[in-house]
Amino acid sequence: MIKRSIMIATGSYLPERVVSNEEISAWVDTSDKWIRQRTGIRQRHFADHTELTSHLAIKAARHALEMAKLDAEVIDLIVVATTTPDDTFPATATKVQKELGAFNGAAFDIQAVCAGFIYAIAVADNFLKSGQASTALVIGAETFSRLLDWKDRTTCVLFGDGAGAVLLRVIDANNNENWGVLSTHLHTDGSERDILYVDGGPSATKTVGHVRMNGKEVFRHAVSKLSSVIDESLEDNGLSPNDVDWLIPHQANRRIIDSIINRMKIPTEKVLVSIERHANTSAASVPLALDEAVRDGRVCAGHLLLLSAIGGGLAWGAGVVRFGLPVHSWYYRK
Ligand code: ACO
Repeated sequence: MIKRSIMIATGSYLPERVVSNEEISAWVDTSDKWIRQRTGIRQRHFADHTELTSHLAIKAARHALEMAKLDAEVIDLIVVATTTPDDTFPATATKVQKELGAFNGAAFDIQAVCAGFIYAIAVADNFLKSGQASTALVIGAETFSRLLDWKDRTTCVLFGDGAGAVLLRVIDANNNENWGVLSTHLHTDGSERDILYVDGGPSATKTVGHVRMNGKEVFRHAVSKLSSVIDESLEDNGLSPNDVDWLIPHQANRRIIDSIINRMKIPTEKVLVSIERHANTSAASVPLALDEAVRDGRVCAGHLLLLSAIGGGLAWGAGVVRFGLPVHSWYYRK
């Protein structure tokens, strides 16, 4: 059987605490007007100090399992994309595995910063296609607020915390060739690592560190690299922007999203944008926007999704996915 992976369910979780631009303006020399005009962000969610990345990830995972009506035991692969793991080791995915009681396969983390979710989908898809797993839980989860330098107003206003999850399941490609993960496209350029990084880590400094960013350079690379990987993914699938039902871009800056869709001539109505409420949640941004749109009925089974993201590294990528379960497919629930 030639295998492919289908995206059968989504879930997400946002911490309860909402922090508005006004609230941040009381701590930092900034304003709601500046933040909205330059980024499109109105508010973000922050985890309280007892809430860890794993807690967010587990809640998003349970949400996805409920949607799929599946028990955690069927999961035989857990991939967590995060830049803010609970501990230096072991992987945050091991806590997810323990809490869910999903002990039938491997669980590990992926570190590709804001592109982490796309990287995690690509890895899980390849595990499923090669027969190494049959049901994958893929999560993007971050407590990015822990990395912020409250003395640096250009970065501390940009980020938020959250988690999003999807369940991928293997299916016979025969008769289902246009469903599921159609392709993934990953790129990295380590020569640009200094334009966006955290100035800490167990080997270099023994401290966690803070986000450091050359905003203008990141902006420029984000527009050109995301436009080019979107082009690449459409071309590889013989698609045009008109064929795509939803573009789900990384939610870093409203102006980055607008520049890309103007360049690519993708209508605004086909773009999922959640940045004004979530800010940049790094690896969680794409699955959070996706889950929201699945639950409010914008994204439906059969829709063609184009996911794209870029982050520190620089690492960037895209994925083309026909969402949901093919109606004619043979499928069982356990
Ligand atoms: N509030 C008020 N003023 C500010 C703030 C703030 N929070 N931050 C910077 N400023 C000031 C600067 O000091 C500067 O003042 P000056 O002209 O008196 O020197 C002025 O605003 C303009 O600053 P710039 O840095 O030129 O502002 P820019 O228009 O480039 O916007 C921003 C900055 C929003 C960071 C933008 O460069 C950006 O979005 N870059 C992309 C970065 C990004 O999205 N990173 C996320 C992680 S990577 C990823 O996910 C893709």
